[in-house]
Amino acid sequence: MKYTILALLVIVIAFASAKSSLNNEFEFLLKGHVPASNSAVLGMYEAFLQKYKGKTFEVNHDMDRFMTFKANVERIIAHNSNPERTFDMGINHLSDLTQKERLAYYNLMDPQNCSATASKRRVYNAEAPDYFNWVDQDVVSPVKDQKSCGSCWTFSTTGAIESHYKINTGEEELFSEQELIDCPDAERYDTHGCKGGLPSYAFNFIKEVGLETENSYPYLARDSVCTYDAEELRVTTDGPFNITAGDEEQLKEELFNNGPVSVSFHVKEDFLDYTSGVYSVSDCPDTEQDVNHAVLAVGYGTTDDGMDYWIVKNSWSEVWGDEGFFKIERGVNMCAIAMCNSYPLNVRKV
Ligand SMILES: *[C@@H]1O[C@H](CO)[C@@H](O)[C@H](O)[C@H]1NC(C)=O
Ligand SMILES: *[C@@H]1O[C@H](CO)[C@@H](O)[C@H](O)[C@H]1NC(C)=O
Repeated sequence: MKYTILALLVIVIAFASAKSSLNNEFEFLLKGHVPASNSAVLGMYEAFLQKYKGKTFEVNHDMDRFMTFKANVERIIAHNSNPERTFDMGINHLSDLTQKERLAYYNLMDPQNCSATASKRRVYNAEAPDYFNWVDQDVVSPVKDQKSCGSCWTFSTTGAIESHYKINTGEEELFSEQELIDCPDAERYDTHGCKGGLPSYAFNFIKEVGLETENSYPYLARDSVCTYDAEELRVTTDGPFNITAGDEEQLKEELFNNGPVSVSFHVKEDFLDYTSGVYSVSDCPDTEQDVNHAVLAVGYGTTDDGMDYWIVKNSWSEVWGDEGFFKIERGVNMCAIAMCNSYPLNVRKV
């Protein structure tokens, strides 16, 4: 009996600490319920340094970064104090960088100029339900971390391939981003490694060449030379199915009937602070020329207040956002989320 209680206690504590984040620990401060005094923000910065840099605060070295951190915290508090907001902001691994530095970290400065042509529309008998999430079907692979490289498009691609592979074969496997960074011919596929690319082109490359696993061709987070080995090939596809630009109803139908979809959109500075809720802003660029980030739509739903949203997996690690995921408003082409979307057809082993 004693042991049972002890064991339960250990489980509860382990669970609580796994769940706890700086955003929970400093919730009152970040929501503006207690004043953001210098010492209060410094306390949070010390916890930030401990968690993300494994070091303690040194006045001589860290004062400039602390000022940047504090400016970010003040912006977050102002946002979280607005009762009209649809999403919350918080701190994450990049909260000591300026807005410009954070955009540069993920190479979000250059748009990708998406211009995919639509595939022939498919017709389905089953009507898509109001809520659906492929995470509940256990076919969404873990959140990865692209680190400082504009390789979002390779993670969006592998995320889609991994989910469709599990749906089609029942097997779990992780596939290689680095092969997509190193190997496609830039002219032919319009992919540029850490400087960007589009999942639809990557699906074409995989159709023609095939994709190795994460293990056989591991991620380096930088441009490197192609070392692909034809003996190691594991997966192929018949190429992309391109959703019609602007058609979020079709996106919903295709996602429900086939699996997660690689979607692109425009990341504005304030998106980088997202932690929960439905991301929705009034002044976001929304043409196909504006997309600068590719991710993976895995589901959709509607809030109690009636706001429709997409559920999306990002590639900025699990410490970012809502354990690596986010929700973004659906049905209004929020930040061009409707403009440049595709998924891989007939994913299978080679
Ligand atoms: C996108 O278009 C802009 C303006 O036309 C151009 O400057 C930029 O180089 C293009 N980017 C890519 C990745 O093609
Ligand atoms: C989908 O888009 C890609 C490039 O973005 C293109 O190569 C492919 O031909 C398109 N597929 C269809 C069926 O239009």
